[in-house]
Amino acid sequence: MKIVGNVEELREQIADWRRAGDHVALVPTMGNLHQGHLSLIDIARECAERVVVSIFVNPTQFSASEDLEGYPRTLELDKRKLKRAKVDLIFAPDVETMYPFGVDSATSVRVPVLTEDLCGTFRPGHFDGVTTVVNRLFSLVQPDVAVFGRKDYQQQLVIRRMVQDLNIPVEIVTGPTVREDDGLAMSSRNQYLTEDERKVAPELHAELSAIAEALAAGDRDFGALEKVATDKLGAAGFRPDYVAIRRADDLGEPGADTTNFVVLAAAWLGDARLIDNIDVIA
Ligand code: PAJ
Repeated sequence: MKIVGNVEELREQIADWRRAGDHVALVPTMGNLHQGHLSLIDIARECAERVVVSIFVNPTQFSASEDLEGYPRTLELDKRKLKRAKVDLIFAPDVETMYPFGVDSATSVRVPVLTEDLCGTFRPGHFDGVTTVVNRLFSLVQPDVAVFGRKDYQQQLVIRRMVQDLNIPVEIVTGPTVREDDGLAMSSRNQYLTEDERKVAPELHAELSAIAEALAAGDRDFGALEKVATDKLGAAGFRPDYVAIRRADDLGEPGADTTNFVVLAAAWLGDARLIDNIDVIA
């Protein structure tokens, strides 16, 4: 397994693989890897002969008030996990390599509309940072396939839209959300929870599941379902940003004829902002 931080070395290795006729799959991450990330690497290995994992805590997707400084960085541990997962190359650049003209002067990529709703409302500029860095990773690695988690549902839709709109020659593949035994979606940010908060945290998934069951049973009173869940989360100690029932394909408001739903939520619990979603065909 190679560990590369600079563009030249990355390009050389990728070119060697291409000459040999190998395909390349990329799994972009911010490190602090858990089973959710590792599940995407398993998918990547099914898609291509060569797997590249990027580890980069991307400053442009954090606002000034967010946890950029405190975001867990565990590179040595991550390397061991990736070696065991038989990854071919880790791309772990520094900020100067990713943003040679500086973070504030960086050329950015923005997907309007889709990014202005749900998490975009509460984290203005966040998705612009995501598309900006993912676009850079795509031009550096030029992967045939890139794998993302459905845990970040809006993120993967935004990336799919960027790829479609800019005709980027990469196939986007998504993997299901990996959960703890009690239903809590795995996330690096779960570490911010206290012991008591950790016991309450699975309630987020439980509320989404309750809505999913109601939709499956034919309930179409979307507003009422969202309100009940929001109130219950509040009563359990969360500070919900939103609970929303949307169309799965474009996150639009569902109607009477909608059959493919996604139920999404974001809620603060102590210092942790947790997100989760469930898709439902009903
Ligand atoms: P990060 O939060 O490190 O997540 C990297 C990838 O792992 C994302 O595609 C995310 O959806 C996926 N993932 C996280 N938790 C998961 C879980 N429990 N089950 C399945 N997949 C999971 O998302 C980012 O980094 C960044 O925004 C990035 C795309 C790397 C751009 O900086």
